[in-house]
Amino acid sequence: MYPDLKGKVVFITGGANGIGKAIGEAYGQAKANIVLADINEQALQETQEAFAQTYGPSMIQTLPMNSTVENDVQHAITNAYKHFGGIDILINNAGVMDNMEAAQTVFPTIHGSTSSMLT
Ligand SMILES: NC(=O)c1ccc[n+]([C@@H]2O[C@H](COP(=O)([O-])OP(=O)(O)OC[C@H]3O[C@@H](n4cnc5c(N)ncnc54)[C@H](O)[C@@H]3O)[C@@H](O)[C@H]2O)c1
Repeated sequence: MYPDLKGKVVFITGGANGIGKAIGEAYGQAKANIVLADINEQALQETQEAFAQTYGPSMIQTLPMNSTVENDVQHAITNAYKHFGGIDILINNAGVMDNMEAAQTVFPTIHGSTSSMLT
């Protein structure tokens, strides 16, 4: 049995794209309030517009933030607290995956198959 997420506040780093955005959509469907913090301001703007249209403008807050810069993080957290009165759930998703070496070492066959499919 999943908890009722209606009215909860979820703060998602790297929420403007990809997995973070998809997590935000899932929380939006569960009627949670969503804070998307991301370094990519253009993507944030586009995602804010899409989420506001789907879930309602009062359910979404977007904050430009580089999660590797402490001041940015403090500023974003403070803003989210001011806007929604707190944070219930943190999804620490922001990141860049630019090196598949570990996966290649552990799954050489799978990686080989994937690479050949992509070429
Ligand atoms: N996609 C995969 O197969 C996969 C596999 C394993 C792990 N991951 C991890 O999952 C996370 C999300 O992956 P994704 O595929 O959705 O990536 P994505 O590139 O689609 O989205 C990542 C988001 O994070 C943002 N971002 C990057 N650096 C940031 C920073 N310093 N501060 C704030 N925002 C930042 C980007 O602007 C982007 O919106 C990443 O941490 C990635 O390393 C992804």
